[in-house]
Amino acid sequence: MCGIVGYVGNKNCVPILINGLKRLEYRGYDSAGIGIVNHNSITIVKNKGKVSFLEEKVDKLDLESEIGLGHTRWATHGIPNELNAHPHANEDQTIFLIHNGIIENYQVLKKGLQSFGYEFKSETDSEVLVHLIDSFTKRGHDITKSVQLSLHEVEGTYGLAVISSKEPDKIIAARKGSPLVVGIGDNENFIASDVSAIISYTKQIVYLEDGEIAVIKKNEFTAKTAFDNEIEKEIHEISMTLDEIDRGGYAHFMLKEIMEQPESLRNSIRGRIIDEDGRAILGGLRDVVDKLADSKRIILAACGTSWHAGLVGEYMFEQFCRIPTEVEYASEFRYRNPVIEKEDTVFFISQSGETADTLAALKEAKIKGALVLGICNVVGSSIARETQAGVYTHAGPEIGVASTKAFTTQLTVLALISLLIARKKNLSKVDGQQIASELKLIPEKVEEILKLNLQIEKIAEEFKDASNFLYLGRGYNFPVALEGALKLKEISYIHAEGYPAAEMKHGPIALIDENMPVVFIAPKDSTYDKIVSNIQEVKARGGRIIAIITEEDEQLNKLVDYAIRIPSTIRMLMPILTVIPLQLLAYHIAVKKGLNVDQPRNLAKSVTVE
Ligand code: F6R
Repeated sequence: MCGIVGYVGNKNCVPILINGLKRLEYRGYDSAGIGIVNHNSITIVKNKGKVSFLEEKVDKLDLESEIGLGHTRWATHGIPNELNAHPHANEDQTIFLIHNGIIENYQVLKKGLQSFGYEFKSETDSEVLVHLIDSFTKRGHDITKSVQLSLHEVEGTYGLAVISSKEPDKIIAARKGSPLVVGIGDNENFIASDVSAIISYTKQIVYLEDGEIAVIKKNEFTAKTAFDNEIEKEIHEISMTLDEIDRGGYAHFMLKEIMEQPESLRNSIRGRIIDEDGRAILGGLRDVVDKLADSKRIILAACGTSWHAGLVGEYMFEQFCRIPTEVEYASEFRYRNPVIEKEDTVFFISQSGETADTLAALKEAKIKGALVLGICNVVGSSIARETQAGVYTHAGPEIGVASTKAFTTQLTVLALISLLIARKKNLSKVDGQQIASELKLIPEKVEEILKLNLQIEKIAEEFKDASNFLYLGRGYNFPVALEGALKLKEISYIHAEGYPAAEMKHGPIALIDENMPVVFIAPKDSTYDKIVSNIQEVKARGGRIIAIITEEDEQLNKLVDYAIRIPSTIRMLMPILTVIPLQLLAYHIAVKKGLNVDQPRNLAKSVTVE
C-alpha cells in the first residue's frame, strides 16, 4: 500500500527520492518522508499530506547525500501525521527504516522492547522494527545481521529498507508479502516497491522474493535467505517507458486510461486468436490447458473491480465451457476454509498482482492442491509469480486509482480463456470463429463509444448534484451495473448501488422518486423485453433514467430521459462495451464536482495490506 524508494551511489539522492515518491504517490498518499546520511549523521524530513508538501520542506533545507530512503504512507496503524510518517529512527539517531506491510505481533514486541527501556514516538507497528534492530546492534551485530535476526522475531508482512549511519555505504532491504525490487545502475543502485519509481534511472531490475534479504551498495548487490544462504538473482530488462506512465496530455490518468482502451484491448487480443480455426492460443496456459479444460469446477477469486470481472467470467465459463463456476471475494475465500478439490481450478484476477487478500487466498488454494492460475496486468508481480501459470492482460500501467482499462482487458482475457476451453470441449469451429471475429472488432467499437465523450459530459452536468444513483442490468450486464456504481462511488463520493434489474421490485423500487437517477444497462438481448418493463416501472414512479442502449434501439431511445447509444456485439462481449459510458459518466461527474479523480480520498491503487 505504501511506497518505498531508496538510492545509493555517487549522485545527490534527494531529488531522486522525491521524484520516486511522486511516481509512487498513487499507492498511498497521506504522508511522506525521506531519510539520508551525511558525515555519519542522519537527517529525516517528514510531512503530512502530499509529496509536493514534503518537496517544499526539503527544498528549503538544501540537503545533499549519496544514500537515502523515501516513503509514501497510507495509514494502517496510527493516524496520518508527521510522527507516524516514515522513516522511523532509533533513539540514538543512527538507524532509520521505511516499511510497507503490517507487523502482526507488534504489540508483543513493543511490550518486550519497552521493558528494556525503549521509548516509542509513533503509534505505528513499523517503529517496533527499528528498535528491535537497534537492540541487536547493541548486542554487537552489524546492521545486516541485526536486520536478519530481527526478522526472525517478526510475524506479518514487510517490504523493508534500513540504513545505519555507522555503515553508510549500504541499504539493507527485505521482503515478505510486500513487493520490493532492486534497480541495478552504473555506480549506483536503487530499491523500490514498484519499478515506476526508478524506471527513469535504470531498466535493469531484480525482483526480491519473500524471505530474501538484500544488501545494496553502490557497486555491489547481494541477496541472501533469512538463514544466510547466498542466492543468485536474475536481472530482468524491463520494457516499460516513462511515456507509458505519464498522463499523455490528458487532464487525469483516469481519462487517459479510459481513452487508451482501444489500444490496450488490441494488445490484449494480439497474437492470441487463430481465425481460421476459431481458436484462442494463450502461451501462458499451454502446459495446463488440458487440466484446465478437465476441471470439475472453476473458482474466480479477486477483489473490487477485478471481482466484477470475475462475475462476468462466471457467465462466460458456464455458458461456453459448461464448467460449474463460482466467484469469490478473495478476502472471504481465505478465511472460511473453502472446500477445494484437486480437480478444481482457481483463477486469481488482479490488476496489480499485489493485492494482499488475493495473494493470501492464492496461498490457501495452493495448499489445498488446486490448479492455481493468474490473470494479472503487472508483469512479474507477486500473484503472477506465485501462480502455476496464467495470462497477462497487457493493459499497460494503470495509474488512476479507479480501475478502467484493467477491467476491460480482464474481460477480454476471460473471453479468450472461455474460447480456449470451449473449443477443446464442445464448441463448434463456426461458433468459435464468431467469437473470435467479434473479439477482434471490439477495439473499433470502443473507439466509437469514446466519441460519445461530450454527450456523456453533458449528462454528467445534469446529474452531478444527485446524492444517490441506482444502476441496473441483467445477465452479463448485471456485473457491469455493479462496476458502474463502484466507479461513481469511489471517485465522486456519491452513494450508488448496483442490482440485477429484476431485483428492483424486491426492494430498491421503494427508493425511486424524481430525485433518484437510475442507470439502466439495456442492450438488445434476450432479456430486453424484461428490462423495458423495468424501465417503465421506474418511469411510472418519476425516476430519471439514463440508459445504455444499442444503436438501432428506437423504442428505448424514445422512452428514457438520456439514451447513450452504443454499437452491439455478442452477449458475452457486451460488458466490454457497456462499461465504457459508465466509466466516462463517473469521471465527468467527479471532475465537475472538483474532486481529485486520480487520487480519491481514503483509497490507494494497490491494496497490499489486508
Ligand atoms: C476499483 C479498484 C479496486 C481494485 C481492487 C483489486 O476501481 O481499483 O476495487 O479493483 O483493489 O485490485 P487488483 O485488481 O490490483 O487486485
